[in-house]
Amino acid sequence: MAASLRGASYLPPSASTASVRSSLPRFPSSVKCSRLTPPCIPQLFFQRVKGRTSPPVLNISYSGIASPICASSVPEQLRSAKEDIKDLLRTTFSHPILVRLGWHDAGTYNKNIEEWPKRGGANGSLRFEIELKHAANAGLVNALKLLEPIKDKYSELTYADLFQLASATAVEEAGGPKIPMKYGRVDVSGPEECPEEGRLPDAGPPSPADHLRDVFYRMGLSDKEIVALSGAHTLGRARLERSGWGKPETKYTKDGPGAPGGQSWTVKWLKFDNSYFKDIKERRDEDLLVLPTDAILFEDPSFKVYAEKYAENQEAFFRDYAEAHAKLSNLGAKFDPPEGLVIDDGPAKAAPEKFEAAKYSYQKRELSDTMKQKIRAEYEAVGGSPDKPLQSNYFLDIMIVIGVLAILTSLLGNGN
Ligand code: HEM
Repeated sequence: MAASLRGASYLPPSASTASVRSSLPRFPSSVKCSRLTPPCIPQLFFQRVKGRTSPPVLNISYSGIASPICASSVPEQLRSAKEDIKDLLRTTFSHPILVRLGWHDAGTYNKNIEEWPKRGGANGSLRFEIELKHAANAGLVNALKLLEPIKDKYSELTYADLFQLASATAVEEAGGPKIPMKYGRVDVSGPEECPEEGRLPDAGPPSPADHLRDVFYRMGLSDKEIVALSGAHTLGRARLERSGWGKPETKYTKDGPGAPGGQSWTVKWLKFDNSYFKDIKERRDEDLLVLPTDAILFEDPSFKVYAEKYAENQEAFFRDYAEAHAKLSNLGAKFDPPEGLVIDDGPAKAAPEKFEAAKYSYQKRELSDTMKQKIRAEYEAVGGSPDKPLQSNYFLDIMIVIGVLAILTSLLGNGN
């Protein structure tokens, strides 16, 4: 049960509270970070979806944060956490929900507010119950639950970094482009620092193009970035019981992987490629989802230029997506150090060897006395001296060459 719950979005009706509780992430026994807020016990409650016979949604209510707050992350822990996220992805197929988690933490940014963390953005505020309960975030508590053991393991990793690390890793592991990420995001420290509800986009507003521009321009993003980022819907599904969008299940989602059900935008919804653009352009398959905010990408003249391009050219999509994703992940973030931290996938590279010209050039060294004597003896044996180099005997050299040539000619002649 615990194993199936790890990646599940909802529980079978038979699930007992006790079995759920046993699968919850464990909380750290020791507190390692310097700036602390007491860990709190999550409460479980089941949300019945009105008029639906499907299993209840699992929700975990956090009355506070689960792990201690860290000032900012350190590179070794980020690298190691990245490997743990890869393992998690392999076993839970949670790529889509982790991408959505990162986007929803960052997407509250308001470029018109200067003050941090009031301006919103990638600051880890989405871990607090008050923000998780915003309608747009329905279901994201499951993503947080998946990441909690990793958060607990790394004493110096911030939530803000963990959310963005998980999202970028999920895109890369699903076959998407490598995102030029940086880390070192500082976490907000309390729920009072969460943004107000309503900063994330609606999927079915009266005027989708205007709405998308209102929301994304407020974040400082452009039409090109709106279209490229929408391409993240190449991953995942919409679920009626969360967003109210999508079919309960389709031929592409009824068997999972992960928790079955929902409606995907693409056939292979765990593969990051440009099929989102191809599929919403064609709209041939009733089992594939097209939200009003997806459809508008091929209707609005400015969006359409990019949507057409990405449907044709996956390389162009990957390039623009990677850039836009990195930009999104930095929105509103406060970095420590201010320039951020860049991590490599592999073990830390050894610092390059300092260039020392002397090491690579010949140096004039004084010869030892014994060596000098040896050289003198060798010169004298052939009638010369180190102070007076031997004269070349050109006549003798020519005679030797002629002799060798004569021998060679006679040998070749005998061979015939
Ligand atoms: C353009 C405005 C956007 C709207 C209106 C929108 C709306 C939605 C909706 C309604 C869902 C279904 C949620 C559910 O039922 O569980 C969803 C899922 C998703 N969204 Fe978006 N979204 C937008 C932009 C983005 C962006 C910018 C990203 C990432 C860069 C993103 C990534 C995802 C992913 C990966 C899922 C699938 C989650 C899963 O399968 O659990 N979305 N989105």
